Amino acid sequence: MLNGQTVVIIGGTSGIGLEVARQVLAAGGKVVVGGRDGARLDAAVAKLGDGADGAVVDSSDKASLATFFDRIDGLDHLFSPGSSYGRGPFAEISDELAESPFRSKFWGQYYAARYALPKLAPTGSVVLMGGAYSARPPADGGAAYAACNAALEGLGRALALELRPIRVNVVAPGLVDSDLWTKVTPEVKAHNFAAYTADALLARAGTTAEIAQSVLYLMTNGYTTGSVLYPDGGFALR
Ligand SMILES: NC(=O)c1ccc[n+]([C@@H]2O[C@H](COP(=O)([O-])OP(=O)(O)OC[C@H]3O[C@@H](n4cnc5c(N)ncnc54)[C@H](OP(=O)(O)O)[C@@H]3O)[C@@H](O)[C@H]2O)c1
Repeated sequence: MLNGQTVVIIGGTSGIGLEVARQVLAAGGKVVVGGRDGARLDAAVAKLGDGADGAVVDSSDKASLATFFDRIDGLDHLFSPGSSYGRGPFAEISDELAESPFRSKFWGQYYAARYALPKLAPTGSVVLMGGAYSARPPADGGAAYAACNAALEGLGRALALELRPIRVNVVAPGLVDSDLWTKVTPEVKAHNFAAYTADALLARAGTTAEIAQSVLYLMTNGYTTGSVLYPDGGFALR
């Protein structure tokens, strides 16, 4: 399905990105994974094995993105889930934290696509990482984060138009049981998973394998561009 194709995954050293890397290799492709932490990067490349390469990159730093893409000869697909941000109630959140989703998740992916573009195959694609909070914002606070995910959907449609025939799509998952949740306290994780289970039609969080399958679909279906795919267990419907 991806025979001989190169997929660059910024944020491919953990969670959803790492699982996408595994599925790309299983589909016959090659991967270049990126992340900020060198030790995590080395461990991911070693775990992925044959067909995997990697380099340190911080997507919130344009110079770092330029260096990262300088060493890549060419790529067929870009997936850019690597970001770090916070959210909180509108009336209480600091400006710094409120602005973090746009700084990291929106502009990080915008510039990743910008620096990748000269090396992207015309038959290739970009998959942007959004989130289902675009359609159904979190009840416990996250206005800027919800808006950031909605902005990424707009960016995907605009880039699909401007970059054609390169295809550009957005994956917008609901809650995913990924490594991300090892970075919060067990209480915060339990609160988020209980609320999501109560809200989603399928009454559970998603798996990284399910989200990765959606990403590979967007990469490989040659007639899909400008789309947003919601692997969210029906969360946005209720
Ligand atoms: N998990 C969920 O419930 C969920 C739901 C909806 C959407 N998402 C979206 O999915 C994305 C990834 O989530 P995940 O669950 O896979 O998280 P994760 O397991 O924490 O993985 C995040 C990956 O991104 C890298 N990264 C973080 N900041 C980066 C930066 N500035 N530059 C380059 N790489 C960076 C991390 O490595 P380093 O720390 O070493 O840089 C790691 O490889 C996020 O954008 C999130 O908004 C997640």
